[in-house]
Amino acid sequence: MCGIVGYVGNKSALDILLEGLTNLEYRGYDSAGIAVNVDGHVELYKAEGKLQNLKDITFEKKEHISKSTIGIGHIRWATHGAPTTINAHPHSCNCGRVAVVHNGIIENYKELRAKLEKEGCVFRSQTDTETVAHLVAKKFAQTHDLTEAVRLATKEIEGAYALCVIHQDIKNTIVATRRNAPLLVGIGEGEYYVASDVPAIIKYTKKAMYLEDNQIVTLTPDSMKLIDIDNNVISQKIEILPWEPVALSKMGYKHFMLKEIHEQPDVVRNVLAGKLRAIDENISLNEVTLDKESLKTLNRIQIVACGTSLHAAMVGKYIMEELCGIAVDVEPSSEYIYRKTVGDKNTLVIGVSQSGETADTITAVRQAKSRGSHILIVTNRPDSTMAREADSLIPVSAGIEVSVAATKSYTAQVISFYLLAIYIAEIKNSANKENLSNLKRELILLPQKIEKVLSHKEDVQACARRFANSKDFIFIARGINYATALEGALKLKEISYINATGYTAGELKHGPIAMLDESMPVLSILMKGQVYEKILSNSEEAKARNARMIALTDSDDTKINDLFECIIKVPEIIETLSPVLAIVPLQLLAYYIAEFLGKDVDQPRNLAKSVTVE
Ligand code: F6R
Repeated sequence: MCGIVGYVGNKSALDILLEGLTNLEYRGYDSAGIAVNVDGHVELYKAEGKLQNLKDITFEKKEHISKSTIGIGHIRWATHGAPTTINAHPHSCNCGRVAVVHNGIIENYKELRAKLEKEGCVFRSQTDTETVAHLVAKKFAQTHDLTEAVRLATKEIEGAYALCVIHQDIKNTIVATRRNAPLLVGIGEGEYYVASDVPAIIKYTKKAMYLEDNQIVTLTPDSMKLIDIDNNVISQKIEILPWEPVALSKMGYKHFMLKEIHEQPDVVRNVLAGKLRAIDENISLNEVTLDKESLKTLNRIQIVACGTSLHAAMVGKYIMEELCGIAVDVEPSSEYIYRKTVGDKNTLVIGVSQSGETADTITAVRQAKSRGSHILIVTNRPDSTMAREADSLIPVSAGIEVSVAATKSYTAQVISFYLLAIYIAEIKNSANKENLSNLKRELILLPQKIEKVLSHKEDVQACARRFANSKDFIFIARGINYATALEGALKLKEISYINATGYTAGELKHGPIAMLDESMPVLSILMKGQVYEKILSNSEEAKARNARMIALTDSDDTKINDLFECIIKVPEIIETLSPVLAIVPLQLLAYYIAEFLGKDVDQPRNLAKSVTVE
């Protein structure tokens, strides 16, 4: 949440900052701002609402602002203080010489603010960040050294932060630091970039350095100095970013979400590549560093995750219990961290996260680590904070996901769980060999089946048109597809704001059935397998209460034609793998409904892609 970008070099900073913010817009879009230094004066430009508003403001003064070859920028997802212009970053001190952008939460800001106010600082905003601007200004007045001022300020700050600071009196210098919030430096020729995330800088450079917690970097056009909070000089670990700028293009699709849905067949191929080599070969998962004996004696697995990643984890639980015979608990990270959880070194704890920056999940895995559990992280960002906590790291290789609503990363996470489950089952010899071979065969066929679903997207679009004006939506499923029902409902509510809920079909009659009438669509996930007939009869029960019925099915059974107003067909698939295929039409359904309703598909209101606050 919140995105930071900075530039110092010989080019005009304005376009670089605005472009960087555009590529970080998935991190927040409540308000935005930049600070530049024009003719020796720090100037702030800020606007409430979408980034376009800031672009409009700066466009009017483009010639003037473009003179600055240094700048910092921010896109905000509000935590402290409403999303107004005054609360937008950058924030400044009373003399206006300091400008600060911040991602994170300063937990002791109330005490700091009270102290600074006593000392004469006048606050303009309701943000926690403004305290940092005043604090740095005070420290600078004592030291006349910006790096030192930032270093001393961070000693007084509690909480999470990524910060970028400029000062009017220290020309062409950005000082940046982090603690529990991501920040990296991009290295160019005679120029440096700072950003919360790769998309902001990848167009300009692939050479980068990730900051670690409590490190402070000082950047000028031709120098980079790295120290720790105790003023020790630190050696710089420079790496080449494994991303291509093309990942940030919509490639002709109207929205990133639609593009990312269509990338799923290739994502599945990528995740399987090198791990599932042949049906008669064991899965190769060198990423799991826990030795085979320990895997055999594991008595428990706990999976922690949030949102869509939590739903992927639920599929993971199902498949691991089925194949590995180990008890698996899945819990939202935000719940896990505030109760006494039981675990030890015989417990494997799996953290699942697209971004690898979700604060609740990071805290959960840290807690588990302190109890001695082996930590396995499944993430799309092997460069993330969470990945650094891992004893074993499974990168899910979905590529950069720009749309706030997760699609391809979900599929990649789910496939990773299949691989992990088969891997453990083969070590433990806990599953029928023929079943495992069959599962592998089906995994290999999966990308083509997803392609087939995508080639019939018009059928989903027609269904979406028919139901786009519904106020509520119910998704029902049983067994392994209960997670699919929850994920389908989450996608719909996230981007269309329709009140959608997923239920296990058997629970419908225990309460939710009371809501059913002719205005309520009920989508049954009716995949062939052991619960098919049961869901069918639950669907009959719903139909008998006049609900408008939709089926998502791989069945050719013509008996169901009279029961459902709309039938979305997918290719036949074994039940164990059906969640991967069933989710695709649900992603498309959510997409088309949101599009018909004219919603901002890639940037739904109130959401941010990376939730870095608890
Ligand atoms: C849903 C969505 C969110 C995230 C959740 C966890 O489309 O994107 O529900 O799944 O915020 O994020 P990660 O996976 O980055 O930990």
